[in-house]
Amino acid sequence: MSSLASDADEGREIARPTRSQRDPEWLRERLNAWIKTRAGDDAEVTEVVLPSANGMSSETLLAEALIDGAPQSLVVRVAPVAESDPVFPSYDLDGQYRLIEHVAATTDVPLPRLWWSEPDPAPLGAPFFVMSRVDGRVPPDVMPYTFSSWVTEATPDERAEMARRSVEVLTRIHAAPIEGSGVEPPREGETPLQAHLRRLRDFYEWASRDGVSSPLIERGFAWAEEHRPAETETVLCWGDSRIGNIIYDGFTPAAVLDWEMATVGPRELDIAWMIFIHRFFQDITELAGLDGLPDFLTRDQVATDYLAASGHQPHNLDYFTLYSALIHAVVMYRIQTRAIHFGQAEAPADPDDMIMHRKTLEAMLAGTYWGSIK
Ligand SMILES: Nc1ncnc2c1ncn2[C@@H]1O[C@H](COP(=O)(O)OP(=O)(O)O)[C@@H](O)[C@H]1O
Ligand SMILES: [Mg+2]
Repeated sequence: MSSLASDADEGREIARPTRSQRDPEWLRERLNAWIKTRAGDDAEVTEVVLPSANGMSSETLLAEALIDGAPQSLVVRVAPVAESDPVFPSYDLDGQYRLIEHVAATTDVPLPRLWWSEPDPAPLGAPFFVMSRVDGRVPPDVMPYTFSSWVTEATPDERAEMARRSVEVLTRIHAAPIEGSGVEPPREGETPLQAHLRRLRDFYEWASRDGVSSPLIERGFAWAEEHRPAETETVLCWGDSRIGNIIYDGFTPAAVLDWEMATVGPRELDIAWMIFIHRFFQDITELAGLDGLPDFLTRDQVATDYLAASGHQPHNLDYFTLYSALIHAVVMYRIQTRAIHFGQAEAPADPDDMIMHRKTLEAMLAGTYWGSIK
């Protein structure tokens, strides 16, 4: 999930409810006992480190292990524990593992090597899965890569290549068979986009069950229902398709991470999310008085790159970028109401102020956002 610094850090605080689960040595002992049940008695976990990294919806641990006598650098992705009042009401980590397995088996999308999934919460306090660590670099969320990062330090040509190759990864994901992916299908009589909207609305209603609601989000839903395009095509969508979820080797994607928002739907869900999340960071950067990267991942260039890589012309990007801004608004709203609930943030007088990009969403709804933007 995309999130900002303070939110992410606060989320992590709560997401580890006991001291022991923050203690690398406790985690190492537990993982060490567990790995022997999977890889034999001579397997060993020699070190566990808790990194500070992008994202907040699950925990990521780094581990060093010996498996069949060979050293292995592992990443352990742990589901959030229920007591932490997670951002999302349900979390199917084993389903994510199976989906990655499916994409690995049916496409050449770059993915981390998978080792094991452990759905039983007993060993670590929550389900988890184990994958190999992939070397490379990730565009940071904190501070956003648009401020100052290896991405801003790259040349325009390097960034163009990075964008082109990232979009090309989307086309590979979209060529994966839906059958066998395990992703929840729409209900009888619903299009995949209708199903997506329904789930997003259910999530919003769950997040606003304490009474506060956001007029802007509700306006966004009304607009999204009213302007919903008729769909012709459905593909497997990654869901959280942003460059902050890609590990790069140089400027080439080496691994695609974070499959928890995967869905079936129009390919534009992923295309627009990639464009929008960049715009989200870019808008923040401009508000801070910096240039950022206004020529990177532009709507037109992403559409051109997607067409060139796949033969499919993206459609309705006005709609899908607004819809992306709405998805992000709902997630931010949930993160903020949760932070207020935990006493980590104060409720603003205007609930729409919980949405950091409210001006963007308002301008999109007014039809004025893209006027001066590429
Ligand atoms: N297989 C991996 N190899 C190397 N680093 C990883 C791997 N998986 C996750 N990471 C690191 O952990 C961070 C968060 O992982 P991600 O899957 O995006 O989870 P989140 O849900 O927390 O966003 C990534 O930005 C990356 O730095
Ligand atoms: Mg992530």
